[in-house]
Amino acid sequence: MRHLLDTRSLSLAQLQDLLETARVIETGWPSARLQDSLRDRLLINMFYEASTRTRISFEVAAKRLGMQVVNFAVTGSAAEKGETLVDTFLTLQAMAPDILVGRHSDNGAITDLAQYADEGVHIVCAGEGTRSHPSQALIDAYTIQKIKGSVKGLKIVIAGDILHSRVAVSNIELLAKLGAAEIRLCGPTAWLPRGSLPGLAGIYETLEEAVLGADVIMMLRIQHERIRQTSELDLPEYARNWCFNSRVANLASDNHVVMHPGPINRGVEITDEMADGPRSAIHQQIANGVFVRMAIISTLLNQ
Ligand code: CP
Repeated sequence: MRHLLDTRSLSLAQLQDLLETARVIETGWPSARLQDSLRDRLLINMFYEASTRTRISFEVAAKRLGMQVVNFAVTGSAAEKGETLVDTFLTLQAMAPDILVGRHSDNGAITDLAQYADEGVHIVCAGEGTRSHPSQALIDAYTIQKIKGSVKGLKIVIAGDILHSRVAVSNIELLAKLGAAEIRLCGPTAWLPRGSLPGLAGIYETLEEAVLGADVIMMLRIQHERIRQTSELDLPEYARNWCFNSRVANLASDNHVVMHPGPINRGVEITDEMADGPRSAIHQQIANGVFVRMAIISTLLNQ
């Protein structure tokens, strides 16, 4: 694997290998944390959009492997003087990183950087536009596997602002490859995906219908930063229809898992009771994120 840019281009074998590597790293943790071969190698985080989980998780993962980490922040950088994304990338690349982790609001922005990458420089997409967030989808699959044993045969709901969610796209692609039985999508009509859907993804008109008998319920944040007319949003109305609460949870299978990639807007897409309840895997997703990102880094650098 040269870069990790999306879930679409991952073969089933690569996907299973990454998940197994994460499992081995977690099982060996903390004794097997530092890899001598990665000592003093450099990861640069280049984030053009806000992030808590992804940026810090990549930093923690790299440091746990013995790497050095540099964080680029747009504020205070030459991007404020008009430097383009490509020129900034080439500038950072001239300082010889081994991995560059990038996030950007435009579809294809990070993927396109791969054509400028020197030999030995690996690019990881940490979220771009509405299309791709591969490490989050890997974390979600890893978390489901850990709790349920396997993704195979599960009925998985993805609910909320599907249209603007790169997490939804990456999860649909990846969970289908891993053998989910059904991927049920639901949300306000204006925020449902347009055009063709992967074979396993079906649209449900209400959250209640989608959740009926479901094994995994993945709630999504409203992506305010990608919606033009947020002033027209009626959040109380949205919450009445799409907030995951105990009444809706009672319709799911007895052992259902509640997930959310974060950040959470409590009371909008999920209630406190569900976010903090015994079926919530939200903090496990974050903890697993470090192991999965250690696996991504190790796989890219140790091939
Ligand atoms: N899930 C996710 O991408 O969170 P951050 O925006 O905090 O990185």
